[in-house]
Amino acid sequence: MALILRNARLIDPQVGLDEVADLLIRDGRIVEVGHDLTAKTYVERDLSGKILVPGLVDIHVHLREHGFELKEDIASGTRSAAHGGFTAVCAMPNTTPITDNALAVEYVKARAAEVGKCRVLVSGACTKGLGGETLAEMGDMVAHGCCAFTDDGRGIKDTGMMRRVLDYAAQFDRVVMPHCQDDELVGKGQVNEGVASTRLGLEGWPAEGEELEIMRDIALCRLTGCPLHIQHLTTKRALDLVRAAKAEGLPVTCEVTPHHLVLTEDHIGDDYPTSLKVNPPLRTAEDAAGLIEGVVDGSVDVIVTDHAPHAEWEKDREFELAPFGMIGLETSLSLILTYLVDKGIIDYNRMVELMAIRPREILRQERVALEAGSVADLTVFDPNIEWTVQASDFLSKAKNSGFIGYELKGRATDVYVGGYATMENGVVVE
Ligand code: DOR
Ligand code: ZN
Repeated sequence: MALILRNARLIDPQVGLDEVADLLIRDGRIVEVGHDLTAKTYVERDLSGKILVPGLVDIHVHLREHGFELKEDIASGTRSAAHGGFTAVCAMPNTTPITDNALAVEYVKARAAEVGKCRVLVSGACTKGLGGETLAEMGDMVAHGCCAFTDDGRGIKDTGMMRRVLDYAAQFDRVVMPHCQDDELVGKGQVNEGVASTRLGLEGWPAEGEELEIMRDIALCRLTGCPLHIQHLTTKRALDLVRAAKAEGLPVTCEVTPHHLVLTEDHIGDDYPTSLKVNPPLRTAEDAAGLIEGVVDGSVDVIVTDHAPHAEWEKDREFELAPFGMIGLETSLSLILTYLVDKGIIDYNRMVELMAIRPREILRQERVALEAGSVADLTVFDPNIEWTVQASDFLSKAKNSGFIGYELKGRATDVYVGGYATMENGVVVE
């Protein structure tokens, strides 16, 4: 039976579309885009007043299964993703056991097929056990569907090893996504080094701990030709390095998180909120403004959440003892709508590029567009819903958001994956 989605405003810069129209979907694919569509047998949904775009993809998510199911698992993490409007996420490999071999890749795929509420793309570790010393079974993981490589959570210290990782990944046309951190320089850093570390009396995490690693990895990208995607970049100077690499024609891309765009080190008050302890740390207001400029001018390719769930008791400790990270899947779209689109800083087209088009391109995934023949992975949101972020509202097992109490405008209401609803009217479909 066909599905007809009626009266939404359809926006997709890939096909130059921005108009109120209908979509006819059959067998998981879009059959027709037009007006007053009909079919022999069909069900229909009226989406008047809502905006429909190619399905959002978050390429930096910690689902925690296997090993840390007290924080999150594939069932809860993908429900959280659907609730936030996402049709696909890329799972990070820092689980236990670590995703550094084909069996671990198969486990995540199988579990996602069984209990997932969105597509789960699997990234594999670059080095065994994220140890930085021995290459992971990269070729085998690619053969089993791994779409990218990262030692997320850590930098790869040995430059020779990083070169081998890039040489190897290049053979498979897979992107390497470094977590840019010079571990020795960052040391036990807790917050941005400078005003914040002095004010709070905490160990500093210098911007250079990120920038030096990016400089090195861009040089290695030049040497090897391997596509390089810089994870959660946070400083103005780091972004300038990416800009220069792009100008040179190197295959370098980068991502930023909503928390590094909206929050700064100044938000960490003397109540020492552990929900704002993230890796890399919140930087200066000038850095955040610089990142927003990059979002506008195209230097930033992708918005990701780095959704990093932790148990309540883990975060309910002294700042130095709490783990790094905040959740993000259920606030990401609304934060971008509220702080960038609603303020006129970017338009919907750019938002779709950042959250749906570029993520797929970077991970070598099939294009999804609002045109006949495309897979029907779709995100629908109401740009006018005003809501307050509440911990009790999250479908994630974790509540460690830095945005609880924030008033946001715009929210995902309906999500379709392969033509099937995973969320309808704000409720995840079970
Ligand atoms: O804040 C973070 N938490 N950043 C990372 O890169 C890793 C993540 C985690 O795994 O908790
Ligand atoms: Zn991460």
